[in-house]
Amino acid sequence: MSKKKKVEPTILTFKTAYDLMQERQEIKRYPTGTPIDELIGGGIEEGEVVEFYGEYGSGKTQIAKTLAVMVAGIHNQHVFFVDCEETFKPERIVQIAKNRGLDIDQTLKNIHVLIPVTSTDLMAVLDNIPPEKQPKLLIIDGLTTPFRVEYIGRETLTERQGYLRKFLYDLKKWAKKTRTAVIVTNQVYADPSATPFLALEYRELAVGGHTLYHAIDSRIFVRKGQGGTRIAKLVDSSCYPPAERPFRITDKGIEPPQEPKKDKKEDVASATEQHDTPTENRMN
Ligand SMILES: Nc1ncnc2c1ncn2[C@@H]1O[C@H](COP(=O)(O)OP(=O)(O)OP(=O)(O)O)[C@@H](O)[C@H]1O
Ligand SMILES: [Mg+2]
Repeated sequence: MSKKKKVEPTILTFKTAYDLMQERQEIKRYPTGTPIDELIGGGIEEGEVVEFYGEYGSGKTQIAKTLAVMVAGIHNQHVFFVDCEETFKPERIVQIAKNRGLDIDQTLKNIHVLIPVTSTDLMAVLDNIPPEKQPKLLIIDGLTTPFRVEYIGRETLTERQGYLRKFLYDLKKWAKKTRTAVIVTNQVYADPSATPFLALEYRELAVGGHTLYHAIDSRIFVRKGQGGTRIAKLVDSSCYPPAERPFRITDKGIEPPQEPKKDKKEDVASATEQHDTPTENRMN
């Protein structure tokens, strides 16, 4: 007769909110000097997972690349860029870094790029980021793309969502454990059941649906605005209030929109001012 296996009691330890607060003091934030900072408390935070979702061409990848350049170039930290959509071009990194007056070689050397061929590759990414590099930012551009390509048809949906859920769970745990900020970008699909009166960010849903929501700390919807402007809107966050910021895509990556043109009266005034400026000053 087999003996009944003795089950060891699980020992769990509670931490006080005070201790957690002390631990939080050590968490660093990396300002990026872009309009995104104003949505997420002043910069990207170690251990936080932020999702940018929106239609094609809305600017998700441009945001990701600009944030990569800033963390690599200004903060001189290692950035890991997982390019699921195969759109990464180092020339764009050089352009952004150059126009922001950053050290180009340092920026390029701090950005590590990987193109996962399959969703299995993507799920293996976390195990292949060398801890000795002390990553500060992990970007996954096109998070759901490998899953969408491989799992086609409704009958595969449950399996796809299962793998995605597991990967996001691991991603969140890894981000907290290694104190790495994570940015994921994601495409959208039109919700057929949404009424046209709903705001766009609720009619266009991120691929992966609710599976993603639990693992993500802040969700930012990106859309095209008027005259080439783009809008980034913080839709949902565990710590920041809803807010939106306009931006434009330029040779500096992303930056705030241009100041509105002065009206004619002001133009005349400034033209007169210039005319009145002594010649020697104007020559300088
Ligand atoms: N150097 C640049 N200067 C100005 N605009 C640029 C520059 N490079 C790219 N763009 C603009 O960025 C836009 C594409 O943005 P981005 O690639 O970030 O879109 P996305 O949201 O990632 O789209 P997708 O879902 O297809 O991946 C295009 O409208 C393009 O004109
Ligand atoms: Mg993109």
